[in-house]
Amino acid sequence: MKKVGILVGREVTFPESIIKAINERGQGEVVAEMVKVGGIRMDQDKAYDIIIDRISHEVPYYRAMLKRMALEGTYIINNPFWWSADDKFFNFCLADKLGVAIPKTVLLPQEKYIDAISSESLRNLEFPIDWEGICEYVGFPAFLKPHDGGGWRNVSKIWNLQELWHEYNQSGRLCMTLQQGIEYDQFVRCYCVGKEKVLIMPYDPSKPYLSGMQYVNVDDYLSPELHARVERDCITICEALGYDLNTIEFAIKDGVPYAIDFMNPAPDAELASVGEYNHNWIVDAMTDLVFKRLEEGIAAPEYRWSAMLSAPAKAAPKAKTAKAKSPKAKKAGNND
Ligand SMILES: Nc1ncnc2c1ncn2[C@@H]1O[C@H](COP(=O)(O)OP(=O)(O)O)[C@@H](O)[C@H]1O
Ligand SMILES: [Mg+2]
Repeated sequence: MKKVGILVGREVTFPESIIKAINERGQGEVVAEMVKVGGIRMDQDKAYDIIIDRISHEVPYYRAMLKRMALEGTYIINNPFWWSADDKFFNFCLADKLGVAIPKTVLLPQEKYIDAISSESLRNLEFPIDWEGICEYVGFPAFLKPHDGGGWRNVSKIWNLQELWHEYNQSGRLCMTLQQGIEYDQFVRCYCVGKEKVLIMPYDPSKPYLSGMQYVNVDDYLSPELHARVERDCITICEALGYDLNTIEFAIKDGVPYAIDFMNPAPDAELASVGEYNHNWIVDAMTDLVFKRLEEGIAAPEYRWSAMLSAPAKAAPKAKTAKAKSPKAKKAGNND
């Protein structure tokens, strides 16, 4: 019997639906349930074949627990190691290099630092910041938003330098980016599952967040060319970042889909918010993905320790024999 665990926050309908769908299809051979954990022991046995993680970005204990489970061979959707390392600014720069249209974006030094940091600690920082130069590059309107954030928190639309300073002065320790605002003609939010299936959802960000009014049903919302490009961009982004589940938001202007938000490894999938069609689509697509991963065998991402665990004697040589690496250890991507 294979076990699939779901790790959740406040959401209700997505966990219920996915557990039901997996159990129905699994016929007792594959069982899905809510993950239950307490104190995690160093030698804890493997408890799940797959875990769908919806909340570890808010609960560091869960993130650490998931890394431990990955070491035991549990496949985590999404990869907790990369999710920990990831940030939106890196993603914008990477996607830009991969040919996805990205609005001009600048990473800003923080407004505040932890108490132990004094001006002496910050001698590497230019002072004053070249605000005029930054604004000239990005233009107005612009969006000031965290380099790692979500849920529309601390995102503000900026029309001039005074407004920028006003908002920046309230950003505290958050690391912020300033991004060219796209005065879009169309806007879509896309689920991308398994780096292959894409659902393009027409979306109206002017409606209140999570209100259930944002997802609008419009047939043939995008031209066939745009539809194909958005699909391709979604897959490129998720392939590059390695996410099995993500949403990608595009603000579309003059036929160009600008990707403005695509670090959403636990995207909203609640019935009341995304609507029945989109909810059912994501539940089906995620159920298919779980069974695909279980059937095809799970290729865990390779870490430096992977080869050492499978061939401990070879991969952990004494210092003087360190040159004689096994081919497997080399393949693990060592760069030393
Ligand atoms: N560059 C941009 N151009 C146009 N609208 C934007 C841009 N960046 C953010 N927005 C608007 O602000 C909303 C929230 O910003 P987003 O980057 O998606 O942050 P979050 O991760 O919190 O959802 C977006 O859904 C969009 O409506
Ligand atoms: Mg967003």
